[in-house]
Amino acid sequence: MRIPLIAGNWKMYKTMGEATAFVKELLPLVSGVTGVEIVLAPPFPSLGPVAALTAGTNVGVASQNMHFAEEGAYTGEVSPGMVKDAGAAYAIIGHSERRQYFAETDDSVNRKVKAALASGLVPVMCLGETLSEREEGRTFEVVERQLRTGLAGIPASDSSRVIVAYEPVWAIGTGRTATPAQAQEVHAFLRGLLSELWGATAARSVRILYGGSVKPENIADLMGRNDIDGALVGGASLKADVFANIVKFQ
Ligand code: PGA
Repeated sequence: MRIPLIAGNWKMYKTMGEATAFVKELLPLVSGVTGVEIVLAPPFPSLGPVAALTAGTNVGVASQNMHFAEEGAYTGEVSPGMVKDAGAAYAIIGHSERRQYFAETDDSVNRKVKAALASGLVPVMCLGETLSEREEGRTFEVVERQLRTGLAGIPASDSSRVIVAYEPVWAIGTGRTATPAQAQEVHAFLRGLLSELWGATAARSVRILYGGSVKPENIADLMGRNDIDGALVGGASLKADVFANIVKFQ
């Protein structure tokens, strides 16, 4: 069985003070929630404080990015080991904003996914087509390339530690959610590819999250689909009560 996972990606929002205030407000709202993995992805400076506050609770912590090297002369970068050391258990990798504004490629995503796994972090590998790619009918071709290259060289034995997030770029921050049917269609396609890569049993265990304008009003419909195993939530994860309502979608 795939345990649903709901992650809040704060992007470049919240100071450390705002982050800790958020966690203190969120924890009592979600303390009774079972059967859902809850994850927060704060900016790097707040990773340690958020991890300290959530230790021993049902809320986990993710970084929004990381470098693939263990250490080195890479000014401004943060290594997988540092992310782990700060208390995170997950790392979001290859978010479309990283691809769009910071020149991340399918190859760098692949190196990061491997580095995350080697460091004992669970990678949340993001992929998704742009609006023009969808309009040109290239959605499946694009997500197939992103998935195959992103996961190249990763053995089936690691499959249970990999999370995939389908985030159509045209749905991120736009208020325009993919319909549950549109999302399910791509999720099912991705699971078929995972099955080719790793075999049907492994593919059935991989969680595929949906991201792009997820909110309390649409989460239940999305989660009702067979291959949608959770959500990566941006804007609607910035307020504790709104995020808690998404977590409590059932
Ligand atoms: P959004 O962002 O929920 O604000 O659309 C999702 C994401 O970028 O992960």
